[in-house]
Amino acid sequence: MKPIPVWMDCDTGTDDAVAIMLAHRLEGIDLKAVSAVCGNTTQQNAYLNTHRICRLMGGRYPVYRGAERPLMKPLHTAAEVHGENGLGDVELPLPEDLATPPEPAWDALYACAKSMPGELRLVPTGPLTNVAIAFIKHPDLPTLLHSVTFMGGSAGPGNVTPAAEFNFYTDPHAAELVLKSGAKLTMCGLDVTLQAYFTPEQLDALAASGTRAGRFVHDCNQRAWKALHKIGQPGFCMHDSCPVMFLAHPELFEGEMAGVAVETRAELTAGKSVTDLYSDKQFPFKNVFVLLKVDRTRFIEILTECILSIG
Ligand code: RIB
Ligand code: CA
Repeated sequence: MKPIPVWMDCDTGTDDAVAIMLAHRLEGIDLKAVSAVCGNTTQQNAYLNTHRICRLMGGRYPVYRGAERPLMKPLHTAAEVHGENGLGDVELPLPEDLATPPEPAWDALYACAKSMPGELRLVPTGPLTNVAIAFIKHPDLPTLLHSVTFMGGSAGPGNVTPAAEFNFYTDPHAAELVLKSGAKLTMCGLDVTLQAYFTPEQLDALAASGTRAGRFVHDCNQRAWKALHKIGQPGFCMHDSCPVMFLAHPELFEGEMAGVAVETRAELTAGKSVTDLYSDKQFPFKNVFVLLKVDRTRFIEILTECILSIG
């Protein structure tokens, strides 16, 4: 099967970092570039962290700078989970030469999509700010892309407020624009990503593997574990690896087409993704394929193999 061309847009925090490693090593995925967006951490940190991960995994990919703040809201990062530097406060060296491209993420993404009409799979794993700017500036981009498979939203409860998931909460206006864009959308919301977790024992085994990549994935998640353990989560959710894994192994997942919208005005429910999955009142549109289940055992097996193969 011809490898799938993929562009990742990341707020490179700890689980984004693992997702980039997965995209680098997963058979069937041809990672074209990574763009940085603010979210878990500042855009500058996300940009530099992406370079750090490329150096760690021995991959050289173009890394583009993106939005430094959400479309309308002020930026609130997630340092309590991802640390001040975005990588769980684990220090990684930068490559000697960053070779920073002059064009911003939204223009570089458009140029890449135009070079392969209908082929490029966009995988946002942070707030959708860069994607929204790209769609505003280049109105033909949603249909030039093959699809947008994003980590964000939740048909159920949120993880930042009782209603909203972090990526949608951070930039609900960008999420609204993307949901209404007409692009072919697949949503990897908390409904499925909370199932995609490493147990502490599995993470310890990565550290014990003697590989730098395994040790990093263990160490960068230790800070998050303190927060997650307290709220009773069974392990370390690899939220951002879900969209990458879905593209190469859709057989591991189950989902349904649904109408999905996002709240942008209310205070209590700002960022809430509203779906008609569980309602007898249906939206007059079915705009998103919503993933609901994943074979966790196989997911973790493949992800572990990819991480350890980096060395
Ligand atoms: O809600 C989880 C999402 O928010 C993940 O993408 C994580 O990296 C944070 O950005
Ligand atoms: Ca993320």
